Amino acid sequence: MPEPTPAVEMRSIFKHFGGVHAVEDMDLTLYPGEVLGLLGHNGAGKSTLIKILSGAYPRDGGEILIEGKSADIQTPRDAKAWGIETIYQNLALADNLATPANIFFGREITTRFGALDEAAMEHASIRVMKRLNPNFDNFHDAVSNLSGGQRQAVAIARTLQFNAKIIIMDEPTAALGPHETQMVADLIRNLKAEGIAIVMISHDLHDVFDLSDRITVMKNGRHVWTGDVDQVDKDDVLQMIILGRRPDGSYAPGILSENT
Ligand SMILES: Nc1ncnc2c1ncn2[C@@H]1O[C@H](COP(=O)(O)OP(=O)(O)O)[C@@H](O)[C@H]1O
Ligand SMILES: [Mg+2]
Repeated sequence: MPEPTPAVEMRSIFKHFGGVHAVEDMDLTLYPGEVLGLLGHNGAGKSTLIKILSGAYPRDGGEILIEGKSADIQTPRDAKAWGIETIYQNLALADNLATPANIFFGREITTRFGALDEAAMEHASIRVMKRLNPNFDNFHDAVSNLSGGQRQAVAIARTLQFNAKIIIMDEPTAALGPHETQMVADLIRNLKAEGIAIVMISHDLHDVFDLSDRITVMKNGRHVWTGDVDQVDKDDVLQMIILGRRPDGSYAPGILSENT
């Protein structure tokens, strides 16, 4: 079978902050309908890499292709125009507002007289939430009253409402208990079924193995390894994260010298 066109290809990305090489010659490929777990310990460059994809930081070098087309992403607006949406760990919800107002926050529907069109926003919110969580029916309470998993669903719904094709999730299960984590797993499965591509940063190896199709490991700003989760076990992954040593015993460029 021919390989599908990747949703995202980041090629040889570089980013430095003064003398700190946060990302160096880094590649990342993401396919439609998959979850790619992005791993590496603190300071590995994960956040910097996804901030380049989401337009929060301009890159110093390298190329980004979206569905095979060169995408000159320099700002968050550029990224959104390419269908890339980011869900940060804090979810950035307005706690005192209900679900529809959160989904449309900053992009409200108005009537032709300029008033908020509450009915249209509620209707659209019901439609988009159904795609994620068919049982959800709490459209009037402030989102502060929702569970962690439901709040995650609202944050995801907001990205879908604006035609996200690529969703970046930073630690989606970090603050959640097992039941809520299961809810997020269901949300992610529904997104995959729609062909949406997801990059997920996570420290929880259990969730990574549970939710990811493939993983990419970074260390010191560089690419260590990319492959199917089925090809590796947790020890393999820890060796890659901590030592930069791949399952075949080789090391990523620029890493061996530091360990010896
Ligand atoms: N805005 C910034 N200014 C200066 N240095 C930064 C900035 N953001 C990240 N760094 C540095 O870049 C490196 C990679 O950081 P980061 O991308 O946050 O890693 P991770 O998300 O994997 O923990 C670290 O050395 C960090 O201190
Ligand atoms: Mg980070």
